[in-house]
Amino acid sequence: MTQRLFDPVLVGGQLLPNRIVLPPLTRSRATSDGVPTPLMAKYYRQRSGAGLIVAEGTVVSPQGNAYARVPGLYSREQVQGWKPVVEAAKSQGAAFYAQLWHVGRQAHSMVQPDGLAPLAPSPIPITGWGYRTPEGKRVPYETPRELTREGIREILGQFADAAANAMQAGFDGVELHAANGYLFDQFFNRSSNQRIDEYGGSVENRVRFLNEVLGALAQVIPLNRVGIRLSPSSGWMDMRDPDKRSVYSEAVRIASRRGLAYLHLVEPGIEASDDVDLGEDWIPSGELAALFDGPVIVTGGHTAETASAQIVAGVADMVGFGRLFISNPDLPHRFQHGTELQEAHADGLYSDDELGYTDYPCHPSYAPSRS
Ligand SMILES: Cc1cc2nc3c(=O)[nH]c(=O)nc-3n(C[C@H](O)[C@H](O)[C@H](O)COP(=O)(O)O)c2cc1C
Repeated sequence: MTQRLFDPVLVGGQLLPNRIVLPPLTRSRATSDGVPTPLMAKYYRQRSGAGLIVAEGTVVSPQGNAYARVPGLYSREQVQGWKPVVEAAKSQGAAFYAQLWHVGRQAHSMVQPDGLAPLAPSPIPITGWGYRTPEGKRVPYETPRELTREGIREILGQFADAAANAMQAGFDGVELHAANGYLFDQFFNRSSNQRIDEYGGSVENRVRFLNEVLGALAQVIPLNRVGIRLSPSSGWMDMRDPDKRSVYSEAVRIASRRGLAYLHLVEPGIEASDDVDLGEDWIPSGELAALFDGPVIVTGGHTAETASAQIVAGVADMVGFGRLFISNPDLPHRFQHGTELQEAHADGLYSDDELGYTDYPCHPSYAPSRS
């Protein structure tokens, strides 16, 4: 049954060789200026047997960042740095999308370029978690500064510029990181959005930022090359709302109306990079997938068997494998031949060298194909 993972699939007008997705995984191997490195090219080349590769969260501006050595798409050097990475990722026929990221209130003044508090829809700090400093210490999150209309307009421009830069670097498209409690999510959920202007209150208002980003992107890139990632059932980083179903359904309807390349859903029971117990009001992926007229990706806790079952059931067209792809660079080959899987270890997830990054071996029987 797992053969279904190897059926080709059409995404954004491109025929992809299989339905296995390398989902976005932050690995912190760019330079301190957010320029991609040759080591990143090696990492993506090792994993280039996927049908679709979504590059790690890539910030649209220095203000949109919270962490060390995260790549960007806002400078000429970054665009140049991405080119060899793009070439490596696409070397076996995968499509390669950049994940465009603005962290909003998950940043901290100690890493903001102007030393000011981060920007967010409302001045409400994250309470249940701590910000991890570049030295690895946990400190409380700060009260963010409320975005002005002018500030929102500036961010729309940053997303459009980053999307144009992505295409210039050779990416096939971009994925909006509207999951995991970052800026889009902060607009969606009432726990972080208490605005009384046209960006807060009703569902229609809380999805306005998404709608406007898509409007800005449409000026520079075809929207059938824009995907969107949502985590509708995750409460990570205080993402609470009395009616999540309504706001996420509306976000999906907008994505569908705009003709986006794909909908990428983080499965219930996953918070960021961890498995958690299902919350009270989790939303089955199939329910949101049914609202989207186009390819759907689900990611979170899947094995080859559960992934195929989601495809057979018509819930998803493609499936992402995050942690499994970290420790098995040749994951599609291992799935296809039923070869044993290697266990991941936590060392090196976010460090700055090849250990725990490019040193997981491929199976001796693996011979990458070249396109
Ligand atoms: C090390 C690591 C980094 C991650 N970075 C990102 C990221 O940059 N953007 C994102 O949307 N999700 C990120 N995630 C979440 C994964 O894309 C994925 O949703 C999650 O690992 C669940 O899938 P899995 O069970 O197949 O690992 C990250 C996960 C891990 C383990």
